[in-house]
Amino acid sequence: MAKSRRIRAAVIGLGMGRYHATNYAACPEAELVALCDADEDRLRAAAKQFGVKRVYTRIDDLAEDRRVEAVSVALPNFLHAPVSIQMLEAGKHTMCEKPMAMNAREAEEMERAARKSGRLFMMHFNTRFAPASQYLKKVAESGRLGEVYYAKTGWLRRAGIPGAGGWFTTRAKSGGGPLIDLGVHRIDLALWVLGHPRPVAVTGMTYARFGPKLPGQAGDRYDVEDLACGFVRFANGLSMQVEASWASFCERREEMVTVLYGDRGGVEHSNMGEGYDWGVKLFRSEGGRHLVEQVKSFPAPKENAQSHFIHCIQKGRQPMATARHGVYVMKILDALYESARTGREVRLDGN
Ligand SMILES: NC(=O)c1ccc[n+]([C@@H]2O[C@H](COP(=O)([O-])OP(=O)(O)OC[C@H]3O[C@@H](n4cnc5c(N)ncnc54)[C@H](O)[C@@H]3O)[C@@H](O)[C@H]2O)c1
Repeated sequence: MAKSRRIRAAVIGLGMGRYHATNYAACPEAELVALCDADEDRLRAAAKQFGVKRVYTRIDDLAEDRRVEAVSVALPNFLHAPVSIQMLEAGKHTMCEKPMAMNAREAEEMERAARKSGRLFMMHFNTRFAPASQYLKKVAESGRLGEVYYAKTGWLRRAGIPGAGGWFTTRAKSGGGPLIDLGVHRIDLALWVLGHPRPVAVTGMTYARFGPKLPGQAGDRYDVEDLACGFVRFANGLSMQVEASWASFCERREEMVTVLYGDRGGVEHSNMGEGYDWGVKLFRSEGGRHLVEQVKSFPAPKENAQSHFIHCIQKGRQPMATARHGVYVMKILDALYESARTGREVRLDGN
């Protein structure tokens, strides 16, 4: 069989974008051909690191580069929708960083633009590609939990407000605080492993107890939450508790936890210790005894998000993290924020 041609990829935004560039550079089916960042120092350093000659400080110039077939958008959140739409309209397959957009309305515009362009759009929900996440999905789909009727998912950080005073903590540029930044990963993970049940009602609360007290300008330019929590009800009877913080008196530096409770068993997916080592615990009962099985090593997935994106382009397949999945999470985030703002439950329909 003829070997598929390599897909020519580019990355816009070279903070997290360097991770995308690393994975494209390591993917035999991709060729990293261009980079873009308004920050010339970052651009120069990345161009040197990856040996890329085509470099742009202006997004419009990259959009016009016809050599570029696929692009990762790793810009601040407020640029996700306009730049993804611009890239799709320029005929480029587009992968967008999380969160998909500032809100569900923008996300739906992106979904429409992708459909109209006929190009592939993928959400960078990279948590799904981690070995333990894929194991969790297998467990959830195996039937060994019985019917899952309750879930908890969240990411609490003890002291880690990103870029205080910058775009992350400015609502007009980020869309929100830890809920849209960290919660998005854990909500997507839970819903992905549960097969995207339809949400019908959402209640949320947000707090900003630490960010506004940061020293100097950082505190003045802090208008997002530093902790959010909420509760989502689904049409199939499932309910889910959600929590996310950048700063809170939790025990560990990072607490990333998703628990599924079924009527035949339970499963917990979480980081172990302070960092990013993942573990899965399985709970069940046998002969009246409560059994806990801890799994710490997992088969390595064949693809990461970037190689998956490239392979889907080559094969003309839909990626496993679609625009619809992005819209789905944005609707829940919007509802959590709206409920926090109004003090009321928000009803959802038509997901
Ligand atoms: N999936 C993950 O695990 C993960 C991790 C970190 C960040 N992110 C996401 O990645 C995105 C970027 O976050 P970050 O931490 O890299 O932020 P960052 O501020 O470090 O990087 C953003 C880059 O975009 C560039 N930029 C901004 N406006 C530009 C413009 N108009 N034209 C060209 N370049 C421009 C900046 O110069 C900067 O280098 C965010 O949406 C964030 O949520 C995802």
